[in-house]
Amino acid sequence: FSEELEIVDNKMGEVQGVPLPEATCEIWEQIYNFQAREDDILISTYPKAGTTWMQEILDLIVQGGDVEKCRRAPTYDRHPFLEAVAPKPVPSGLQLAEDMELPRILKTHLPVQLLPPSFWEQDCKVIYVARNAKDSMVSYYHFQRMNRGLPDPGDWSTYFSTFLAGDVTWGSWFDHVLGWWEAKDQHQVLYIFYEDMMENTRREIEKVMRFLGKELSEEVLEDIYHHTTFQAMRENPMANYSSIPSFVMDHSVSPFMRKGVVGDWRNHFTVAQDEIFEKEYWRRMEGTNLTFRTQQ
Ligand code: A3P
Repeated sequence: FSEELEIVDNKMGEVQGVPLPEATCEIWEQIYNFQAREDDILISTYPKAGTTWMQEILDLIVQGGDVEKCRRAPTYDRHPFLEAVAPKPVPSGLQLAEDMELPRILKTHLPVQLLPPSFWEQDCKVIYVARNAKDSMVSYYHFQRMNRGLPDPGDWSTYFSTFLAGDVTWGSWFDHVLGWWEAKDQHQVLYIFYEDMMENTRREIEKVMRFLGKELSEEVLEDIYHHTTFQAMRENPMANYSSIPSFVMDHSVSPFMRKGVVGDWRNHFTVAQDEIFEKEYWRRMEGTNLTFRTQQ
């Protein structure tokens, strides 16, 4: 894979102090000036919050539960990843979005202050998925190990500090979840928690359905639920990222559909790390009414 490896770019740059892939920074003006349409639906998340899961749920809701239609293409082609820039000939998120039929479902990991303003101007509906910081950290660590498009995370103790300092691609978890939490009071943002989706997936699917102004029968909702379980998605080549070449995502290092549980942080955090984490967490989260659960 040596030649292929050379085209995989994992260099990082920065936009307004937020670490982003260098290729994204290079076309930042274009990304920021993206023209949203009023019927666009945006899924926004900090990385590893359950983006892909929500994408599958959303696609099924929009397609009226038609499972076959949702197998038309892999996740990343069905829902353009706005700020993603891959090596040629893979089209950028912007290109995919421009070529797509309306209405579109789009994905972003941008912190709220970097979102292209046209989404607010068009009053687009946004679904934000948040996941507790400890499990996000663990999931992101394993993702950076397997995804050569992102920096090598180093060992766990190194990564623990890097993540807590917000020195990871897309920036600080704290800034992200708090920024979007505020935005929900001014815009059409449905704020959903990964832990709630795990606790009662059907309830959360219905929440999304109502937010989109859709009506689906009990039977269809049941189908959506079954098609979006961790097991079903892990086996679905259109949802499990297995179609990305292994020199980019190496599932033998850590599969994209890794564990899909709440509380895996307990298998990674030492007692000392947990103490450091808790201190920083409460320092950063003081005064907010945004709360997370770290166990099921
Ligand atoms: P883990 O690494 O903890 O297993 P994203 O799509 O934002 O990159 O998030 C990926 C995380 O969501 C991974 O977490 C993945 O396993 C989990 N995930 C994906 N689909 C899921 C599903 N249907 N149910 C539960 N978790 C899911």
